[in-house]
Amino acid sequence: MAKRATTPPARGSWAGKMGFIMAAAGSAVGLGNLWKFPWMAYKNGGYGEAEPYGAGAFVLIYLLSVVVVGLPVMIAEIVIGRRSGKDPVGAFEALRPGSLWKWVGALGVLTGFLLLSYYGVVAGWTAFFLLKSVTGSLTVTPDAGKEIFAQFTASAPMQVAWMAIFVLLTAAVVIGGISKGIERVTKILMPGLLIMVFWLFFMVMGRENASSAYAYMFYPDFSHVTASLVLDAMGQAFFSLSLGMGAVITYGSYLGKKDRIVTCAVSVTFLDTLVALVASLVIFGVLFHLNLQTPGDGQGNLFTAIPAIFSQLEGGTTLVIVFFLLVTFAALTSTVSLLEVVVSYFIDERGWSRKAAVVKVSAAVFLLGIPSAFSFNVLGDTKVFGMTFFALFDYLCANWSLPIGGLLITIFAGWILTSKETEDEINTHRPIHAFWKFCVRYIAPIVVLLVLVGIIAGVGGSE
Ligand code: TRP
Repeated sequence: MAKRATTPPARGSWAGKMGFIMAAAGSAVGLGNLWKFPWMAYKNGGYGEAEPYGAGAFVLIYLLSVVVVGLPVMIAEIVIGRRSGKDPVGAFEALRPGSLWKWVGALGVLTGFLLLSYYGVVAGWTAFFLLKSVTGSLTVTPDAGKEIFAQFTASAPMQVAWMAIFVLLTAAVVIGGISKGIERVTKILMPGLLIMVFWLFFMVMGRENASSAYAYMFYPDFSHVTASLVLDAMGQAFFSLSLGMGAVITYGSYLGKKDRIVTCAVSVTFLDTLVALVASLVIFGVLFHLNLQTPGDGQGNLFTAIPAIFSQLEGGTTLVIVFFLLVTFAALTSTVSLLEVVVSYFIDERGWSRKAAVVKVSAAVFLLGIPSAFSFNVLGDTKVFGMTFFALFDYLCANWSLPIGGLLITIFAGWILTSKETEDEINTHRPIHAFWKFCVRYIAPIVVLLVLVGIIAGVGGSE
C-alpha cells in the first residue's frame, strides 16, 4: 500500500477549511462564470428569436452536469492532492510510484503554464477596463467601450504592459505563500466579489421587465435540446470548476487532514454555480429591461457589450465600475491558482524556494504571454493551424488538455485508487462514498469522453 507522504512543515497549508474554500472558489469563479456562461445560455436559449424558448433546458443540463460530473471530479482531485500532499506531478508519483501516472500531473502543470500565459492577457484587459470605468469614459456613449477596446487591443505595447501588470499582481499574491498570501487575499476578494454580484442583482432586478430573466433562465423547454447544447453544458461545467489540470489537486494538497472533503467540494461547487447564475440574471435582466435584441456584437463580448448595455441604464456608470471590479477580482483569484500550480511543482519536485519559483515562473509566463498579447495587433495575421497564438493556446487548453487531463484523473480516482484509499480520505457515509465512486468510475469518464468526441466532431464549443 502506498504510504502517506509526510508533509514537510515548510510547505505551507491553509489556516483553515475556509481558506481552501475561498481560494478554490476563487480559482473556479472567473471569466468562465461572468462571460462564458451567460454567453452560452444566450446562445443556447434562443434569445431574440421570434418565439424565444429560454435557456432553462441548458441551465438544467448544466446543473445536472455539475452534480454528476463536476462535483465528483472535484472530490477526486482533492483526494489526490490531500492524500499525497504534493504538487500534481509529485501527487501521482507518491500515490503510484514508478508508474506513468505522473505524466498526467506533468500535463496539468504544462497546461497551467500555457493557460496562464493567455488568460493573463485577458486579465490585463479587465484591469485596464476597471481603470477606464472609473474615469467614466466607458459609458459616455454606447459605442465608447467598443472604441476603447479596439484601440487598446490594437496597441502592442499596451497589451504587453497590462499583461505584465497583471502577472506582477498575481506574483505578488503567490509569493506570500499559502496562508499568508493566497488565503489572506482570496478571503478578502471572494466575499467582496459575492457582495458585488448580489448588489448588481438588487440594482437590476427591480427594474421594469427585468424579472422576465427568471423565466428565461429557469423555465425548461426541452423541445430545443440539441447535441451541441448538451456538450456546451457539460464542457462548461468542467471548465468553470477549474477541473482537469490539477489546480484543485494543488489546493487540496494544502488542506488539513481533519477537514471534510465533501463539505469543501460542495461549498466550492455551490459558490461557483451561484455566481454564474446570478451574473446571468443580472445580464439578462438588463437585456429584458432595455428590450435589447442582442448583447452588443454577436459574440457577446464582455468588454464591448457590457459597457454598451449599462451605458443605456440609469446609474450605469457606477454599475460598470462595480462590474469591472468584480471581473478583475474574479480574474486575479483564477490567475493566482494557475501560477500556484506551476510554482508548487518547482518547489516540491525541484526543491526551489518559493521566492525563486515565483520570480522565474512569472518571468517565463510573461515571455510566453507575448505572442498572445501580440495576437490582436502585430501578430494578428500570423496564423498557426488557422489560429492566432492566443486562439491556438486557448484551443489547446480548453478543448484538449483539460478534457484529456480530466478523463485521466477520473480514471485514476475511479479505477486505480482502491476504495480503501478513497474511503479513508473522503471519510463520509458509505452511501455517499458509493455514489461518488459510481459517478467517478462510470458517469464522469463517459461524459468527458463524449465531450472530447464532440470536440473532435466539431459539435458545440464557444465559437
Ligand atoms: N474556472 C476558470 C473560469 O471559470 C477558468 C479555469 C479553467 C481555470 N481551468 C482553470 C482557472 C484552472 C484556474 C485554474 O474562468
